[in-house]
Amino acid sequence: MPVRATRREALRGLGATAAVTSLNPAQAQANRPLRVGLIGCGGRGNSLAGQVAALQQRGEPVEVAAVCDIYQPRLERTATRFSAKYYKESAVLLREAGVDGVIIATPDRLHVHQALEAVRAGKDVYCEKPLSHWAQFDLLKELLREVRKRKTVFQVGAQWVSNPIWTRAAEQIRKGAIGKVVHVQTGYFRHGDGGERGMPIDDPNAQAGRGLDWEAFQADAPQRPFSVSRFFQWRMYMDYSGGPSTDLYVHPMTRLYRAIQPGLPKKVVAIGGKYVYNGDRDVPDTFDLLIEYPQGMTVAVLGTLGNDTMIDTVVRGTEGTVRFTGEAALEFTPQPGSKQAGRSIGYDVTVQDHLADFLRCIRTRETPRADLELGYTVQVPLIMAMRSYVEGKVAYFDAATEQIRLG
Ligand SMILES: NC(=O)c1ccc[n+]([C@@H]2O[C@H](COP(=O)([O-])OP(=O)(O)OC[C@H]3O[C@@H](n4cnc5c(N)ncnc54)[C@H](O)[C@@H]3O)[C@@H](O)[C@H]2O)c1
Repeated sequence: MPVRATRREALRGLGATAAVTSLNPAQAQANRPLRVGLIGCGGRGNSLAGQVAALQQRGEPVEVAAVCDIYQPRLERTATRFSAKYYKESAVLLREAGVDGVIIATPDRLHVHQALEAVRAGKDVYCEKPLSHWAQFDLLKELLREVRKRKTVFQVGAQWVSNPIWTRAAEQIRKGAIGKVVHVQTGYFRHGDGGERGMPIDDPNAQAGRGLDWEAFQADAPQRPFSVSRFFQWRMYMDYSGGPSTDLYVHPMTRLYRAIQPGLPKKVVAIGGKYVYNGDRDVPDTFDLLIEYPQGMTVAVLGTLGNDTMIDTVVRGTEGTVRFTGEAALEFTPQPGSKQAGRSIGYDVTVQDHLADFLRCIRTRETPRADLELGYTVQVPLIMAMRSYVEGKVAYFDAATEQIRLG
């Protein structure tokens, strides 16, 4: 059903009322709904814009004002659904649509380009994970520099982090509840290749041309002839994606990294392959990585798409253990001889909270829960892991030059 913004005169909801005095000049006209632009009208983009519309229907002053896609049928469908202005080019949306912030929900290879474009246009950004493709480390660093310089409100779309439990865990760990953190494990396990080969093909006869801008889709990826599968099922290909590591591990890692705040790694090694799903898919289905940090700590991130038996996220310290069991609870267990008490805390999580956090921060200029600094600490080891996997070498991070070296 089309949803059109009704004008709301007061700042309310999204925790904005108390923050009027700290508004950024760009948001100085506070007595109007926030105008959000959506870039990428596929599955995720529609779902996120739907959440914005749900917030609006709940009375929040926000609207999906403009949408952009390089594939005409999706663009038109989404524009109609949200009664929004529509654009074939993100640069034009950013220049002309008068939005406060954008949601970027395009394929991975486009994220860093469009985020840079949006930040330079003075817009705040909710960028879907992963922050960049694994071959785009230099662009990612450029984005970090721009966001720092311009104080952009930047939220990574890693919504699992958006639960107060992770802040509580961070506080406890920082207070020394489990001593020195020495060993950490997390992962993601799923059964099936539905996330890649199962991506919907809207039109098996689609062709590059006026209604489908193949050049804009490819961006800086290796240039290939148009293929229906590459366009609709891009997660099967290393040119645009990286498999479970870049697609899925961002979720458990971002909430974990909010809690342990590890900084940047010293070295990363990864192994994996196509153990279950072969054929024309070129991303691995099984991928394990080990990350070593200079302060003396290792993080193991494990997973396969061949079996959905999850592992708990466990943070092992010299004084105790924090265990995140599934989506349900967090437990502190002391080690023998420790004076710390054991306890358990429940929690749950929604993507709407994560979006609402972003929208609130546009008004208040506070730092969102999954800001770029946190996202960067997650993305760097994942980029190193992909390079380790592709080149069959250990990836080293040189902190002085911020370069990755393979050896
Ligand atoms: N946070 C989560 O839980 C979650 C869940 C699903 C997807 N995602 C992320 O969302 C992103 C999109 O995934 P999806 O499943 O919606 O993919 P999708 O293929 O369904 O949608 C991507 C859309 O982007 C469009 N597009 C391609 N190039 C473009 C360009 N240059 N400018 C504008 N539009 C362009 C495509 O035409 C398509 O409509 C991915 O990066 C994915 O990792 C996150």
